[in-house]
Amino acid sequence: MVKYDNSFTDELRQRLSLVDVISRRVPLKKKGQNYWGCCPFHNEKTPSFSVNEDKGFYHCFGCGEHGDIISFTMKSENINFVEAIKELADMAGIKMPEIKQKTQQQIEDEENYIKITDKACKIYQDLLYQDAGKHALEYIKNRGFNDEMIKKYRIGYAPKSNMISSYFNNTKIEKLTATGLVRVGDYGPYDFFRDKLMFPIFNAHNQIVAFSGRSLDGSEPKYINTSDTELFHKRQTIFGFNFARDAIHRANRSIVVEGQIDAIQMQNHGFPETVAPLGTALTEDHIAILCKSNRNIVFCFDGDSAGQKAAVRACTMVLPFLRETSDVKFAFVTGGKDPDEVLKTSGESAMRKIIDNAIPLIDFLWDSVNKSYMVNTPGGRTQAEKYLKDCISKIQDKIFQNEINQEYNNRKFNQWHKWKQQKYTPDIDIPDVDIMTVNLIKSIVHTYPELAEKHMDFLMSLNISFDEDTNKTELSVENSEKFIISFKLQRYIKKLENDKKQLLENALNGENYDKELLNDIDKKLTESNSKLELLLDMK
Ligand code: CTP
Ligand code: MN
Repeated sequence: MVKYDNSFTDELRQRLSLVDVISRRVPLKKKGQNYWGCCPFHNEKTPSFSVNEDKGFYHCFGCGEHGDIISFTMKSENINFVEAIKELADMAGIKMPEIKQKTQQQIEDEENYIKITDKACKIYQDLLYQDAGKHALEYIKNRGFNDEMIKKYRIGYAPKSNMISSYFNNTKIEKLTATGLVRVGDYGPYDFFRDKLMFPIFNAHNQIVAFSGRSLDGSEPKYINTSDTELFHKRQTIFGFNFARDAIHRANRSIVVEGQIDAIQMQNHGFPETVAPLGTALTEDHIAILCKSNRNIVFCFDGDSAGQKAAVRACTMVLPFLRETSDVKFAFVTGGKDPDEVLKTSGESAMRKIIDNAIPLIDFLWDSVNKSYMVNTPGGRTQAEKYLKDCISKIQDKIFQNEINQEYNNRKFNQWHKWKQQKYTPDIDIPDVDIMTVNLIKSIVHTYPELAEKHMDFLMSLNISFDEDTNKTELSVENSEKFIISFKLQRYIKKLENDKKQLLENALNGENYDKELLNDIDKKLTESNSKLELLLDMK
């Protein structure tokens, strides 16, 4: 039998949800842990076809059909393997590589790789409890790790010496460098990780594919990770996922934190569904992996501006994965702390509060747009609208997209166009607007939002609160606009008269005054008065 390179099919399985793909042909309903529907491969009226998203398999208890996302596509469409892969790749929006046969050599290389990383990990684990690793053990215990946790996460210590290069001195150097643990310099092979606290990074099969080493003497960088290898792609690897997978399923959500120590502490203090990206940048691949389990994610970031930025980035990346059933939220840890420190100083309940108070994506996006743009100006609102529109267009489901659009339209109307909190202080004292006028303006705004929008800057300057309920006006839209304009003119005339008065007072007090300015004001006064007359005549 031909053996295919399975990294691409794995990627497809990661990118696509089995439930999504099957739902295109068979309506499914969630019951317990699985989804159920009527089997497409035999005739039935009651559902005996079950789909397990987590394991990536479907099984029919009626006819015994069984398989994964690829076999489902092949069988249900009566196409061959390559055609099915092609179709799924299209669906996932990824390019299809040439399907290569995995050679015996590649299989051997992979086995060697895992043997080396696993042995190296064992060496590091032993060293942590020996003299050489004393300071590392002390450090990690101080950070609240007990022996049980150290064992579970296989934490170890990489010594100052070239331990791995010497231990494997009979192994071909290419095999060692392939794992990223050993590099070759001018003076021969040397260990990449030296005097580091070692966190192994596991793949989905619990095999060690890489390491993350933390510096112990305060030197920078704080963490170094294995560079990408054949078996380790940082952008596609989530720290802690192998430990969290079952919990993510049980809790029906995942929590994403920024650091790996945070992830471990969270997992051990009431949040076993927690993971962390490796390094600080979250990628679309990370989100795709999480969304395969379920589409409910709480992103937990620092409360500082970098955390805000990271949250906005995560938000835009998660939008294409959103479904109407998704629950995606954003939590922020304030006070310059991270989850590890919150757990340590304030305990699990404080952390739970933070997670429980997470802001739903819809609100987070709205808030961040309102913070990023000056929505009290037409230009700012335009930018904000464009940004929102772009975000909404990323949502795949058209009906859901529409719904979200509607929601934001409501918010725009209620929060932008009614200017609840806007205040404007005119630089010259103009008499308050009388109550009759206030009421008329309110009802005009209420009846003709398009007029409100058009004359927003002026209406805002009146300092009227527009958020109470008002009756609609009987005036036509034309007369309403005339009223606004004439009122605006009257205010303008008052302002000009004020200016003129001020100027003449200054002159009376013997101060210098700008004659040209006075002429200019007079000219404007004449103009405005005749405009006003014209307007009122036409009424
Ligand atoms: N990181 C990295 N390289 C660095 C710094 C950070 O890969 N030079 C990654 C690590 O995975 C780290 C995460 O980014 O866990 C978050 O970084 P940071 O907040 O600076 O560190 P902490 O997780 O708080 O680390 P610690 O608690 O060990 O100080
Ligand atoms: Mn930390």
